[in-house]
Formats: sequence, C-alpha cells, structure tokens
Amino acid sequence: MDFQIKSIEQYHNVYKHSVEQPEEFWADIASQFLWKKKWNKVLNWNFKEPYIKWFDGATLNITENCLDRHLAERGDQPAIIWEPNDPNEHHRILTYKQLHHQVSMFANVLKHNGVKRGDRICIYMPMVPELAIAVLACARLGAIHSVVFGGFSAQSIADRIKDAKCSHVITADGAYRGNKDIPLKSVIDDALMQCDSVKKVIVLTRNRMPVSMIKGRDVWWEDEMKKMETLHEYDCPAEEMNAEDELFILYTSGSTGKPKGVVHTCAGYMVYAGYTFSNVFQYKPREIYFCTADIGWITGHSYIVYGPLSQGATTLMFEGVPTYPDAGRLWEIVEKFKVNILYTAPTAIRSLMQSGVEFVNGKNLDSLRVLGSVGEPINEEAWHWFNENIGKKRCPIVDTWWQTETGGIMISPIANVTPLKPAHATFPLPGIQPILVDENGVEIKGNGVNGNLCIKFPWPGMIRTTYGDHERCRTNYFATYENLYFTGDGCLRDEDGNYRITGRVDDVINVSGHRIGTAEVENAINAHTGVIESAVVGYPHDIKGQGIYAFVICEEDTHEEDLRRKDIGMTVARIIGAIAKPDKIQFVKGLPKTRSGKIMRRILRKIAEGEVENLGDISTLLDPTIVEDIKNGRI
Ligand code: PRX
Repeated sequence: MDFQIKSIEQYHNVYKHSVEQPEEFWADIASQFLWKKKWNKVLNWNFKEPYIKWFDGATLNITENCLDRHLAERGDQPAIIWEPNDPNEHHRILTYKQLHHQVSMFANVLKHNGVKRGDRICIYMPMVPELAIAVLACARLGAIHSVVFGGFSAQSIADRIKDAKCSHVITADGAYRGNKDIPLKSVIDDALMQCDSVKKVIVLTRNRMPVSMIKGRDVWWEDEMKKMETLHEYDCPAEEMNAEDELFILYTSGSTGKPKGVVHTCAGYMVYAGYTFSNVFQYKPREIYFCTADIGWITGHSYIVYGPLSQGATTLMFEGVPTYPDAGRLWEIVEKFKVNILYTAPTAIRSLMQSGVEFVNGKNLDSLRVLGSVGEPINEEAWHWFNENIGKKRCPIVDTWWQTETGGIMISPIANVTPLKPAHATFPLPGIQPILVDENGVEIKGNGVNGNLCIKFPWPGMIRTTYGDHERCRTNYFATYENLYFTGDGCLRDEDGNYRITGRVDDVINVSGHRIGTAEVENAINAHTGVIESAVVGYPHDIKGQGIYAFVICEEDTHEEDLRRKDIGMTVARIIGAIAKPDKIQFVKGLPKTRSGKIMRRILRKIAEGEVENLGDISTLLDPTIVEDIKNGRI
C-alpha cells in the first residue's frame, strides 16, 4: 500500500499534514480502497450531538475490499490460516478465492433464511473460520452483525439480542477451549427463551455435542450450504452500502449497569482499520500475521478480520488458549507457520512468563519480525520478557492503545519507525489529535504531565452512536468535556512527548484486557439471595492486570463463608459470564459512605490494593469506624 510510513521524519511530516489538512489527508488514504461511488464530502461533524459523517455520499461494500479486489492478484494466497484448539487436529487454510466462495455461499444461506439489509444478526461462535465467514457474509448483505464473545452467559446474550432486536442467531453446537467443551447452542437456547425477535438459528457443527434443534427455527449450517450447492447459488452480489450505514454493533461495558452497543459504520471503519493495520505492523505482502484475540472483541473485528483482509494479508486464527496443552502453544504455532507478526495481550505474556522460559526454549522463533501488545497497560517486566525471550531483542514491540469505541489503533509506535520506550504507547497515529485535560476540562499543555485522555478531532474509525440510544453516546463520551471525545483513560505524557496510558479513571475494571463495569458486577452480586449491598473495585493482579474485589454485605445465614463466596460467584457467572466472577469477596458489615449516601470507592480501592495505612481523609464518612472493620477483614 502506498500509505505505509517508512521513517520517523516521514511520520512527523505526515502527522503534521493530517492535523492541518485532515480532509485531504483522509481522502488520499480512502482513495486506495474500492468504492462503488466516490464521496461528496470527506467529513461533516460536531461533537455536541455528536454528529459524525465520513465520506458522505460514497457507496461501497467492505467485503469487496476484503475479498473481491484481491482475487485477481492473490486469489490463491492464504487469506485465513486456522489452527485448532487441539494440536492433533489438522489445521485449515482458506485462500482468498476459497474465502470469497464460502462467504458468498453463506450470504446466500442467510438470504434464503430471510436475512435482509439492515437486520441485526447475533453471532455466538467458536474461533473457527466459519465465524469470520459469518461476519463477512452479514457485511456482504448489509446485515448488521453483533458478535457476542463465547464466554458470556445466556442472560448477557439475551440482553444483547433484545437491545438490538436481532432476527437471527448464528452459533455452533459447542466449542473447544483448552480442555473444556463449551455448550454454545444450549446457552443460546436458554437465552432465546427471553427473546421473541429471533426467527431463525443457524448452527454450525464443531464438537458435535448433543443439541436440541427446534423445528421451524433451528437449521444446520452444513445442510443449508448443501442446499445452496444444489441450487447453484454460488455467487452473491455485494450490497451497495452507504458510507455511514451501520456495519456492526459490539457491546462493551461502561460505568453504568448496562453494556452499550457501540456502533461502527461501513466506510470510515474500513479505511481506519486498513490504514492502521498496514502502518502499525508494517505488513509486507505474503507475511503471516497472527493476532491471538477472539473475534468476540474489537481486536478480533479490526485486526483478525477487517484490517488484515482489507490489506490482502494472511491472517492466522487460533481456536484455543495459549496454555493448552501447555504454555508453549503460541510458540509452537509461530514455529509451525513461520509467523512474522504476533499481536497479543499483556495478560497472555504475563501468564506465559510465569510458566517459565523452558516452554520457549527450543522453539524456532526466527520468523518473527514485529510484536504487538493490546488491551491493557503492559508492565515493564512483561515488556522486557517479551522483548528478550520472544523477540530476541530484534523485533520492535508495538504497544497499541485504543478502544472498542475508537474502531482501530490510536496511539502506538509504528514498527521500525517510531523509537520505542518500554510500556509506552509512544505517539498518536496520523489523524489522531489527543489532548490531556484536568478534572475541569482545562487542557494540560507541555510535556512531563498527566491528565485525562481526550481526542479533539474526529477520525474515520470512531464510534457513531450507541445502538438505539444516541443520547447515551453523547453523555458517555461527549458530555464530560465540551467538544472533546473522552476516553475514560488516565494518561502520562513524558518529557519527549511519549504517551503512556495508565488505566481507567472511571468505574471500569480491565480484567485480562476485558472491560468490566463495576456497576454490572454489583448488580449481579446484589441479585444473589441474602445480599443486601455490594461494592466492587479493581486491584492489581499479577497476571490479569486487574482483579475484581467485591465488598459484600449479607443477611445472616447458615452457610459457611467460603461456600457462600462460591455461590455468589455462580450467580455472577450466570448473569454476566465467568469472566466477571470476583477474584476476592470480603464480607463486611457496612460500606464507607458519605452523609449523602455515596460509597467512597477511593477508600475501598486503597484497601483492596493493600494500602491500608494511607487512606486519606475519612472524616466526611457517615461512620468512620466501619473502615477499621473493613481493613481488619481484608483478604
Ligand atoms: O483502558 C484502556 C485499555 O483498554 C480499554 C479499552 O478496552 P476495550 O474497548 O475492551 O478494547 C480493548 C482492545 C483495544 C482502554 O480504555 N487499553 C487498551 N489498550 C491499551 C490499554 N491500556 C494501556 N495500554 C494499551 N496499549
């Protein structure tokens, strides 16, 4: 691609141009994608409503950019390499031609099952190529996909299906994850008891665990594909989408109880995912790129599916987990496929680091050229371990900061271009204008400062709305500080202008790179019988980055404390999913509240962190003696 930046001087020039002439800058980049019709206006915007329109008037289909346009030049090149959970099962390779064919056929399956442009489709699947095929087939028809991560509970799925009024669900009988079999279809069946908008469920065969199939509603993926063959329904023309038509919804947690459906639209998202993928990793034709995320999260959307495929890359999808059958699994995959670029999360690095270098020793990692990190702050120890043991000190590590709402990477080194500083995301990518502000929204200028991270100008990949509730989008992101997009993150800018994201400044916990709202967990805990009240905070966790610490007030009961803790964990798992189970539950008699009844989380956070000596001013508490009790009962 012509838009790859090759030197730090060029970066500075391009960056300057992108700020001074943003429309010209993005128009140049966008012109390297495939359009059915060009735009009338590059950008219309205000952050007040917010109202964001990129490439207005243009039409396109993202799947033509990800598939059709590569067929002539690299039709026989692998688009997806898939490595199964079990190393003894055979891997699969889908060339661009094969992927195009499968996506077209499956889009026809969707059509035959009543899917129309604009319908919302819930996808709850294992990490198999068919997940990418399902996502792309929706996009081909202009149906809006809402992928739900396989670790969420039936209740969470039902909430998401109801919020988006999904008409169809695409799932599988079950999933393999490590040494576990996950009953996906059965979880969907539980969810669907609450959802009457769903007309059809398409079920892929994966682990062939027994499932119930309801007549008239449930159909098998394979049977439907066969029907398309019989009907010779191989081709599926790509729907001509408007630039700002919705491409997908992805639910994410915020500081309120209910997850929000972050909406991304077709053109801006495509341009941004493609541009950032190509630049940050400096992808070269024929390289093997491996992102260990799950497509259920934004990283998988942007940097397993849309970003790499829009650039004609080979993207490696892994079904399993880094520690199964042992902690050498990722390195084996790197060796087996001669992976050039590896993009993973600090949690995975820390957990593999703890398992010891013996799992790395003996694996040939010479193919690696670039390493990446995403999802949470990477601590220096993990950064150095990754650099020394995996990159052998010859691969740059791109520490990429971004969010579900930003659609793509925002602040990050560009591999082999930007000078690195361990645990720093370094500089904003072209087109991104970060600023730091204080509590009152006043800009903190200069270097060697810290503040709340905001962005002051639109970029093509940004959130457009929260599904079904635009006001929520405004209050969440655009109302805290006037005319700024507020990220919810705290950030340092060092003497040289390098950015370092320090973590959330709102009530969101980042557990293993997954965002979990404290209010959501509290609501789930409070649903447990006998619980009177609870307060949840994050605390530093050696592997997960942050763990979940819950302070819970319960009615007296006869159950042993430990069992009661486990029961509460079960309730949280049932309501949200196992990922939100508290790591620690401390039973308390009361919570530190102000006279107006507000819980002082600052104090709880300090106690959870183990900083019991220096709690600050507690004199404004309704009952300061409670703090002593909580301190003494700390676990
Ligand atoms: O707090 C930041 C943290 O993850 C949050 C976004 O989470 P999510 O929307 O789930 O997206 C994760 C994948 C992009 C951010 O608000 N975060 C993400 N990347 C980094 C990070 N914190 C520090 N350094 C990063 N590189």
